[in-house]
Amino acid sequence: MSNKPLNGIKIIDFTHVQAGPACTQMLAWFGADVIKVERPGAGDVTRSQLRDIPDVDALYFTMLNSNKRSLSLDTKKPEGKAILEKLIKESDVLVENFGPGALDRMGFSWERIQELNPKMILASVKGFSDGHHYEDLKVYENVAQCAGGAASTTGWWKGEQSGPMISAAALGDSNTGMHLAIGILTAYIGRQQTGKGQKVAVAMQDAVLNLCRVKMRDQLRLEKLGYLEEYPQYPHETFSDVVPRGGNAGGGGQPGWILKCKGWETDSNAYIYFTVQGHAWAPICDAIGKPEWKTDPLYMTPKARQPHIMDIFGTIEAWLKDKTKFEAVDILRKFDIPCAPVLSMKELLNDPSLRASGSIVDVPHKERGSYVTVGSPIKFSDLKPEITGSPLLGEHTDEVLAELGYNKDEIAAMHAANAV
Ligand code: COA
Repeated sequence: MSNKPLNGIKIIDFTHVQAGPACTQMLAWFGADVIKVERPGAGDVTRSQLRDIPDVDALYFTMLNSNKRSLSLDTKKPEGKAILEKLIKESDVLVENFGPGALDRMGFSWERIQELNPKMILASVKGFSDGHHYEDLKVYENVAQCAGGAASTTGWWKGEQSGPMISAAALGDSNTGMHLAIGILTAYIGRQQTGKGQKVAVAMQDAVLNLCRVKMRDQLRLEKLGYLEEYPQYPHETFSDVVPRGGNAGGGGQPGWILKCKGWETDSNAYIYFTVQGHAWAPICDAIGKPEWKTDPLYMTPKARQPHIMDIFGTIEAWLKDKTKFEAVDILRKFDIPCAPVLSMKELLNDPSLRASGSIVDVPHKERGSYVTVGSPIKFSDLKPEITGSPLLGEHTDEVLAELGYNKDEIAAMHAANAV
């Protein structure tokens, strides 16, 4: 642990569920001392949510809280508040994602935190930004996806399943946590210049919107042009005045679609994503056995192809009929065509490349034996994050209290008062 870049940064992790824990977990991987503060007896709600083994911390918790220490502390009790005050004086960062106003109600407003430690960086996740007309709302993942533009632009645009659609990716939770991590590190570097801490906040709505900026681009284009040429509605259907849902369309400068491969009738993931890069048209024609398309004016340019792009995808699908998704990608990669198989969670879990790179790791755990988790997606030349198990509730309470200067009798008194 000693030579990790964030070594020496002490973080009070007052987070729960996913958005905050994802942020502090990443900082812990890179060497920060992350002390998770949890309510005695209960802890983070995810410890007991969606359990797969009775009475053992759920994967929901273990996969978001590795490399941390756990301090159980009732911060509504005077003794608990006193401990938190001490901790604030000795830490660099406090991260929280409580509902609006909870930290103030607990007696730890930003003003109070600054009084205790002017160098403190207070990092918060909320559903909406300060002063927003929805600032009082509590927010979970899917609420944020709806508020940030993802739901209105994801999914099918016609038929029975044409309503707004939620993404399975945690655009509202973990994505907001990643934004917050960048904010914390920026404030930390800022502090090295000014000697002062500051408050860093990321609203889940804003973090989702930041990932949806290409859809806002499309709204602005739509208002100018009245149509969006890369959407499946073009040119045969009409556009309204809002960005439509585009199904599996490429969304950028090159058309793409999810295409069926051999076995799709029984395997729900027997598909590939196929991209028609403008300058890769000739190799595509060669790969799929349609060399005549290279010189056919109906196919030669992106503009000529667009009106019948879905028919072109249909022809490629016919070519894919006798190939599995892996066989298809193995052929297409030789022609430099951007594509990939649609991989299931099961396939990802067993992917040897992801194991070798540390993107999926096995981690020891005191009660589970071991568990699989997603490792660091960030790779460094001089740092290989070592993922350790998540802590049991209150596992490090006595250790942290001793570090704060409490003696054995005082620690015992805290336990007796149910403050820890
Ligand atoms: N000791 C004593 N009390 C504690 C405590 C501790 N260690 N830790 C938390 N609490 C109390 C808080 O003081 C607060 O009490 P109060 O409401 O009486 O003031 C309460 O526990 C926590 O409330 P809250 O965070 O609002 O929990 P919730 O379960 O009602 O709501 C969320 C959960 C996620 C909806 C809400 O926290 C939220 O909107 N967070 C911000 C957005 C966010 O991060 N959402 C994504 C989560 S993945």
